[in-house]
Amino acid sequence: MEETESIYGPYRPELEKIQKELLDDIESLRNELKEKNGMDPVEHCLSRIKDEDSMREKCVRKGLPVTTESALTKIYDAVGIRVVCAFLDDVYKFREHLVALPGAEVIEEKDYIKHAKPNGYRSYHMILRMHGKFYAEIQLRTISQDTWAALEHQIKYKHDLSGTNEELVTSELKRCADELASTDISMQTIRDLIFEETSDIKGSESE
Ligand code: GTP
Ligand code: MG
Repeated sequence: MEETESIYGPYRPELEKIQKELLDDIESLRNELKEKNGMDPVEHCLSRIKDEDSMREKCVRKGLPVTTESALTKIYDAVGIRVVCAFLDDVYKFREHLVALPGAEVIEEKDYIKHAKPNGYRSYHMILRMHGKFYAEIQLRTISQDTWAALEHQIKYKHDLSGTNEELVTSELKRCADELASTDISMQTIRDLIFEETSDIKGSESE
């Protein structure tokens, strides 16, 4: 009986409610920007409730008792949402929107885009406390950043790099991350140029 009991106790539906609330908010900004710019700002959006085994394992890894209290109040990513945006600017638009969401309190923000991790990882991380109770981790990133993170994860976690030229793999991954980051900036510049042009046209039409 004990073993089959959820680490989330009776609170799973509440976590799902928070997940839905955040997804709805993201969807509303997504639609707003789509309408305004004629372009979907989100490439894809993923969300999950951390699975039981990962949550138990994380409690152990953090030296916490494996309890519902730890899972809900000491670990902040029971609810996890990842928004993969087309452009860098969109990442920050979603950030602004989430910060202003009623009932959401920002507990932590890590701008790994302005301050990339030493391995090259880039992403904007936020921890929100919802309605003074449950936490959610939101990761906002561009398509390039997401591609890099997925590959890096595969390489680091699926392959045993000992015995290979680990240093070279690491430095090549870092180089790719930096190249992708510079491409993201170029793509943003291109979009800004297009938008300047279309708003010029719109401007002259209305004159
Ligand atoms: P925990 O909350 O204990 O996992 O650690 P933390 O608070 O130091 O984590 P951080 O906010 O830096 O990152 C949390 C999540 O971001 C991870 O679970 C990954 O999904 C992602 N992440 C962070 N760093 C990396 C990285 O170097 N590579 C990849 N692929 N993902 C990363
Ligand atoms: Mg964390």
